[in-house]
Amino acid sequence: MKIKKQSFGTLADGTPIALYTLVNAQGMMATITNYGGAIVSLTAPDRHGNFGDVVLGFDTLEEYVDHSPYFGCIIGRFGNRIANGRFTLDGVEYVLAQNDGQNHLHGGRKGFDKRVWTPRALEAPDGPALVLTYTSPDGEEGYPGTLAVTVAYTLTDDNALAIDYTATTDKKTVVNLTNHSYFNLSAGAAETILDHELFINAETFTPVDGTLIPTGEIRPVGGTPLDFRTLTPIGARINMDDAQLKFGGGYDHNWVLNGEPGELRLAARVYEPTSGRVMEVHTTEPAIQFYAGNFLPPSLKGKGGRVYVWRGGFCLETQHYPDSPNKPHFPSTELEPGQVYRTTTIYKFLAE
Ligand code: GLA
Repeated sequence: MKIKKQSFGTLADGTPIALYTLVNAQGMMATITNYGGAIVSLTAPDRHGNFGDVVLGFDTLEEYVDHSPYFGCIIGRFGNRIANGRFTLDGVEYVLAQNDGQNHLHGGRKGFDKRVWTPRALEAPDGPALVLTYTSPDGEEGYPGTLAVTVAYTLTDDNALAIDYTATTDKKTVVNLTNHSYFNLSAGAAETILDHELFINAETFTPVDGTLIPTGEIRPVGGTPLDFRTLTPIGARINMDDAQLKFGGGYDHNWVLNGEPGELRLAARVYEPTSGRVMEVHTTEPAIQFYAGNFLPPSLKGKGGRVYVWRGGFCLETQHYPDSPNKPHFPSTELEPGQVYRTTTIYKFLAE
């Protein structure tokens, strides 16, 4: 059996939460909970074939409920920020939670990361899969429309975790779903991610203001510390005296990906020199947020007695641009009844 189910405990209201482990033919494992759809652990082989856990997470459900910095979870309805927690659709203004200073972040106070998803494990043609569904009622967290969401995780035999997102609505709304896994490809050997080398398949990014809301400009990466068009250590320029880096406390920006949105293409590639692990991110999304863990505390107790440090993990969140509902010239995040929101992101693991 390539899928194992265990209990992950119960919520305060008695709701039981499960943990599913998917195993592929190579022995790679992905452990996922239906609480927030979080990827709790993900093993990948190093250059000697040794599997190590490459994502940050917690041992217990309580820690996810209590103080998770969005470890591994599904983000929705709207990943990233919406300025001042407000947007207008067909002349109607919608007011959302201001849960990140004055701005709205990652779907609000109780986003998809804190919801209980209905799980269904199955042996899909491509490998073991966990299909999670959630119906977000009209008005939840201030958003219009009943949104029916499906997120399917499939662990394929080429050591890739594919995430397929679909959503439909009964009323015009906005949607921007992503996954918030924090990676450290050293699997615990390196404390920070600063020596990881990163490539981002992008010529431009969306500069932000001091509250991390895009100004609306699309700026070339050339000549800036955000130029990752060739493999560069994350730490090489992260502390440079640069206004954009200052705003994010390091990298926390949206890169506009090369190629056609809607087509699955390489978005980013990360290489960890000591283990030789490589992670490729492929997506149909127009953009990607690279976040270097700048808001992680100096020390956080994680899985198996591990302690995570500041910048101890990085996120590569495939997405539409932040604040799209207030930026008509950005690719649209609107979804209408009768349309199907459909995106795919693949995290693929190799070793060199
Ligand atoms: C995203 C944001 C960051 C931060 C983290 C969560 O990646 O862009 O600014 O809010 O989520 O801590």
